[in-house]
Amino acid sequence: MSPSPVYEATCTAPVNIAVVKYWGKRDTSLILPTNSSLSVTLSQDHLRSLTSARCITSGGADARDRLWLNGEEEEIKQGGRTERCLSEMRKMRKEFEASNSSLPRIADFPIHIASENNFPTAAGLASSASGLSALIATLSTLYALTPENGVSVSDLSRIARQGSGSACRSMFGGYVAWEMGLKDDGSDSVAVEVAPVEHWPDLHALILVVSDKKKGTPSTAGMQRTVATSALLQHRIKEVVPARMQRITTAIQKRDFDAFAEETMADSNQFHAVCLDTFPPIFYMNDVSRAVIQLVTELNRASVEKGEGVKAAYTYDAGPNAVLYVQEKDVKQVLELVLRYFPQTTESFPDPFNLGAKPASDVPQGFNKAVIPEHEVGAVARIIHTKVGDGPRVLAKEQSLLNAEGMPK
Ligand code: DP6
Repeated sequence: MSPSPVYEATCTAPVNIAVVKYWGKRDTSLILPTNSSLSVTLSQDHLRSLTSARCITSGGADARDRLWLNGEEEEIKQGGRTERCLSEMRKMRKEFEASNSSLPRIADFPIHIASENNFPTAAGLASSASGLSALIATLSTLYALTPENGVSVSDLSRIARQGSGSACRSMFGGYVAWEMGLKDDGSDSVAVEVAPVEHWPDLHALILVVSDKKKGTPSTAGMQRTVATSALLQHRIKEVVPARMQRITTAIQKRDFDAFAEETMADSNQFHAVCLDTFPPIFYMNDVSRAVIQLVTELNRASVEKGEGVKAAYTYDAGPNAVLYVQEKDVKQVLELVLRYFPQTTESFPDPFNLGAKPASDVPQGFNKAVIPEHEVGAVARIIHTKVGDGPRVLAKEQSLLNAEGMPK
């Protein structure tokens, strides 16, 4: 007797950090946003979710869909986001099977899913984006719902979006827009590639982890409070974001860092302004976050005055952690300055490039040293140095998180 075939896939997916923020839904069930957004996908060498999925072909009557996150079993809630993603992918597989009689009938088998992040889930590092994107990438591989079979990455992003809005942007590498779309059914609310990683590969990201505690107001609840109460959000949606999307897309196409940085920082500022304009107000940044902004602002001021252009762009999501986008040529200088004001230990910043070995004896010429105080070790808990990266990857079966019985290893 030949062994029954195994239907299993394992993929990784990246984190993305928006430079034009998504904040607000016009449909909370389909996850349709009130404005378009744009992000940079970060390298999976440093931050990624890894997910395995397997059809349970011989589980008996009590076999059912099951999910393990970072080793702990989680309930798949009826009508919840994971269930929705699963059922949408099954629906697509069923249509595919109906159109091609040679395909194995696997759509109705229960599925076991195991997923893990290589970074703390609650670190404020968009784990939902990489996690849901890894789920959709894995199910698309399992079900052969791939571009070769007529399913585009944007089609898949439409489903990832229903798991977590920002997840749709993690379906692509490089520079990615989420077009808000206008239709009520969400069919035109998809992620598209603005430019691949190869177009502008020398953009680095320094993640200054100010706190890895779980954040205060979860983004899903926070953004709906903003939609309900902020007048400033309406101005942002109508007057600011459409033009900014165009300008930042042009900046990326031209690799114009100064313009990219200007839009990125302005958009982060406006996102946190609409949070403050929410009632009751939402505060995500803290004193350390604001000190980082002052440091970057002073560095850029001194650099522009010397004719050297902008050195770094800060952006903050729904938490106090800073992400600094920096061009490769400026990473050493920016890191030296950050390490001077926010000292690290060898554990909190392993520094594979040895950039912090000799902290600058002095600050860049023209820089006002008194702009912020030099902080104690621990004010910035750790620094992750990464860069722009590629989209989801399919891994070999040896990398699976599931064993021969389809249970977590
Ligand atoms: C501040 O995608 O986490 O990071 O769609 O409710 O799951 P849900 O929200 P989520 O919100 C992300 C908000 C943000 C900005 C952004 O990534 O664009």
